[in-house]
Amino acid sequence: MESLNLLGIVGSLRQKSYNKGLMKAAQELLPTGVTLTVADIGALPLFNEDLESNVPVAVQTFKQQVSAADAILIATPEYNYSMPGVLKNALDWASRPYGDNSFDSKPAALMGASVGMLGTARAQYHLRQTLVFLNMHPLNRPEIMVSSAHKNFDAEGNLTNEQTKQFITQMLQALVEWTHRLSK
Ligand SMILES: Cc1cc2nc3c(=O)[nH]c(=O)nc-3n(C[C@H](O)[C@H](O)[C@H](O)COP(=O)(O)O)c2cc1C
Repeated sequence: MESLNLLGIVGSLRQKSYNKGLMKAAQELLPTGVTLTVADIGALPLFNEDLESNVPVAVQTFKQQVSAADAILIATPEYNYSMPGVLKNALDWASRPYGDNSFDSKPAALMGASVGMLGTARAQYHLRQTLVFLNMHPLNRPEIMVSSAHKNFDAEGNLTNEQTKQFITQMLQALVEWTHRLSK
């Protein structure tokens, strides 16, 4: 199989974020021939339509990374039953200006960790709704929704749950197959 380049987007800027830990685990579990670059969405300004006439450099960089990626891997926390504003801000920036949606037709896979019992389920389904408008193609399964995150990561935010590592391995393999299938 040809090599694939994934772009990772993490919806938390927290230093010891559990979701950064999920992305780090994915980086360690990549199938052969797959690379994963993680975007710096903390560098993006708050979206402002007035800035579209003179797009900030950080936004240009992010849009280029999205365009260049074969598929997108998102790790999101759940904030107030939805995705965090920093993630939505990043999605909004790369979807613009109108007619230049960098996410158009991109395959994607979602995962998330939260301290709550539902492990980001509500946030992920909200996120899926946004991906419809972005015309992205998220994998249906496996779903990775890590509940009680404080019990499944160490104090530095590293994933310690072996079963979740297996799910991530399966997801990455499924994303590779899905990306190849969509490119035919
Ligand atoms: C503004 C805010 C809202 C939150 N809302 C939820 C929620 O709706 N459901 C949930 O399970 N956890 C919620 N939490 C707790 C997060 O699961 C927890 O902060 C988690 O560590 C965030 O992910 P991170 O470690 O990747 O930063 C919320 C946290 C914040 C800061």
